[in-house]
Amino acid sequence: MRVLLAGATGVIGRPLVERLHAAGHDVVGLTRRESGARRLRDAGAHGVVADILDREELLRALDGVRADAVVHEGTALTRTPMAHRDLYPTDRLRTRGTANLLHAARQVGAARFVTQSFLYVYGFVDHGTVPLAEDAPLRAAGGGSFDVHVAAMRANEEHVLTAPGLDGVALRYGFFYGSEPGTFGLLDMAAKRRLPAPARGTVLSAVHVEDAAAATVAALEHGRPGQAYNVADDRPVTWTEYLDVVAAAAGAPTPWRLPNAAFALVSPYLGAVMTRASIGLDSTRAKRELGWSPRHADVREGLAAVAEDWRRAAAQRRGPAPGRS
Ligand SMILES: NC(=O)c1ccc[n+]([C@@H]2O[C@H](COP(=O)([O-])OP(=O)(O)OC[C@H]3O[C@@H](n4cnc5c(N)ncnc54)[C@H](OP(=O)(O)O)[C@@H]3O)[C@@H](O)[C@H]2O)c1
Repeated sequence: MRVLLAGATGVIGRPLVERLHAAGHDVVGLTRRESGARRLRDAGAHGVVADILDREELLRALDGVRADAVVHEGTALTRTPMAHRDLYPTDRLRTRGTANLLHAARQVGAARFVTQSFLYVYGFVDHGTVPLAEDAPLRAAGGGSFDVHVAAMRANEEHVLTAPGLDGVALRYGFFYGSEPGTFGLLDMAAKRRLPAPARGTVLSAVHVEDAAAATVAALEHGRPGQAYNVADDRPVTWTEYLDVVAAAAGAPTPWRLPNAAFALVSPYLGAVMTRASIGLDSTRAKRELGWSPRHADVREGLAAVAEDWRRAAAQRRGPAPGRS
């Protein structure tokens, strides 16, 4: 297949380009920058420079391009979101960006569309400890600004899954971690003993970004039109456990505990994510229908592997020890 990939230079986009090539697909990657297009060409893909929020620019940039499928992995999360306003650019990519990419899909002649979704599509609320399957009702979103983010996630799915003439699939990823700057940043914080953990963190599901990329290729090839798939590892954890595992992987002591209320004071968004919303994902459908399963079954094993890469990267930054040739 020839795949038009939005977000091709991002944290999931990079391993996805590699895996699409390895599976015999051809990639046309979208990026807003010439430097991104150069990196894509170096990775063996075709780079097209366009902002997916600008429909005219996007359609113009894709003039003459043909593709069999579109994959939307565009987000704007380069910094950890602390305030609701940090999420608004990503909300727009899931509303206007998705609408524009659906237009682009028609122009390039694509028959399939796979879009990125997220575990909080189920709402920033307490779903208890039993992992949710995809048919769990999408009830309350969380109130206030959380409603805006969840509405954007649900609109993204809805547009793609019901788009006339297109086979749409949505992937509800767990939290990404992997050998990428965001996770390396957490390991750095833990190593410097600057990583606090909530005293009683709520449940999340995570997924190694390489496993998420593998699920995306499988969804492109085998996803059932109109279906959403949870894509997460096998063992949901609490945020307290997750951050303890990060610290252990970094060889650091257990993070200091902050009362749950303190998280909400520092960042209402992170407070809700870590101490109010509770969501584990059950990925049975993805395993059954996509023939996928995560190589990293849980964060303890996955983060230990990531920490090895993190140590290697730190050693490379330091360079050879002084006095040694
Ligand atoms: N499920 C999850 O947990 C999840 C999901 C996504 C991200 N994250 C986290 O968020 C952090 C940052 O992720 P990231 O590196 O992927 O960064 P990012 O800054 O969110 O960028 C993601 C991709 O979206 C593209 N993009 C953004 N806005 C665009 C626009 N208007 N038009 C066209 N393309 C656009 C970017 O392309 P260009 O910059 O090349 O234009 C890039 O390829 C990471 O730590 C990651 O783990 C987590």
